Amino acid sequence: MRTVVCNQLGPLGDLVIEERGEPTPGEGQVVVDVRAAGVNFVDGLLCQGRYQIKPPIPFVPGGEIAGEVSAVGSGVTGVSIGDRVIAFTGFGGFAEQVVISALTLVTMPDTLGFGQAATLIQSYGTILFALTRRTSLKPGEWVLVLGAGGGVGLAAIDVARAMGARVIAAASTKEKLDNAVAMGAEATIAYEDEDLKVRAREISGGGVDVVIDPVGGRHSEPALRATGPFGRFCVIGFASGPIAPIPLNQVLLNNRTVVGVDWGAWTFRDPIGNRRLLDELMGLISDGRLHPTVPSEYPLDQASSVMSGLIDRTLAGKVVLIP
Ligand SMILES: NC(=O)c1ccc[n+]([C@@H]2O[C@H](COP(=O)([O-])OP(=O)(O)OC[C@H]3O[C@@H](n4cnc5c(N)ncnc54)[C@H](OP(=O)(O)O)[C@@H]3O)[C@@H](O)[C@H]2O)c1
Repeated sequence: MRTVVCNQLGPLGDLVIEERGEPTPGEGQVVVDVRAAGVNFVDGLLCQGRYQIKPPIPFVPGGEIAGEVSAVGSGVTGVSIGDRVIAFTGFGGFAEQVVISALTLVTMPDTLGFGQAATLIQSYGTILFALTRRTSLKPGEWVLVLGAGGGVGLAAIDVARAMGARVIAAASTKEKLDNAVAMGAEATIAYEDEDLKVRAREISGGGVDVVIDPVGGRHSEPALRATGPFGRFCVIGFASGPIAPIPLNQVLLNNRTVVGVDWGAWTFRDPIGNRRLLDELMGLISDGRLHPTVPSEYPLDQASSVMSGLIDRTLAGKVVLIP
């Protein structure tokens, strides 16, 4: 089977495609034939050695996949060959097949295609965790989403709308803002050209209630200043690179709260809690309350250019590799 391999942390152009033997499942494991592998911003950072976790090399990148079970190891119950499943692999997903513990599988909702299913867990898991476990969101409240045309951003709009909130999308291009509106954003801010704080306050009639910030850098402080009384600022990531120094008086003013969101670490600390979160997520999808976008598809051997496109900001929306 073919896999993408990172033999050294560094330029994404150094990734290679390797042919490896067919995997066999150990006790408690299954083999999943990958039909789509979700590509996230973090996959590129991991390969470049720019993420806080440095994987031992060589490794196969790819954090989440959707596919069909093709072999079942001893001791596995409740999973059969042919089942359509989603898996959060962490690593190893950019391959024709993955071997994974059966306990980590999530049943794919019938309403989804493989591409939609492969780009769900990381972005929607993070946002559902942020808005239900780390802070709260009431119907009618305003949510300002930065990087709104990206993977986390689009999921944030969808989850916030499902919770009855109103969304302002902030992004750099018309294409990204259009995608955000299609997902349910009510208003937009082109944050490279417009004053983010002033526009967000105007649109929300005084100040937003929640900020979702996966971008960081120079947009974080104006977004925090755009929050009204009891506003919550969710720190999700730093896609733009720099980490903003926040003046603490801005947290005191308006009784604001800055909320750290580290969904990935929490999944290891509380796997049962995460299983509950993912069950909730799949329930919302099956009920038609969430609307994961159909991603753009690329062949496996374009893994490096696709990850580069996310890192250099030229690719918009959700993206999958099709092995
Ligand atoms: N805390 C957690 O648990 C958690 C979970 C998942 C992801 N994350 C983090 O969240 C961040 C976003 O992930 P994602 O999957 O949404 O990525 P994505 O799809 O690539 O979107 C990131 C967005 O950031 C914006 N951006 C602004 N400046 C940028 C720059 N210099 N380079 C690249 N992008 C820039 C871009 O939007 P504009 O062009 O519109 O500005 C882009 O659409 C990443 O840092 C990721 O590691 C954190």
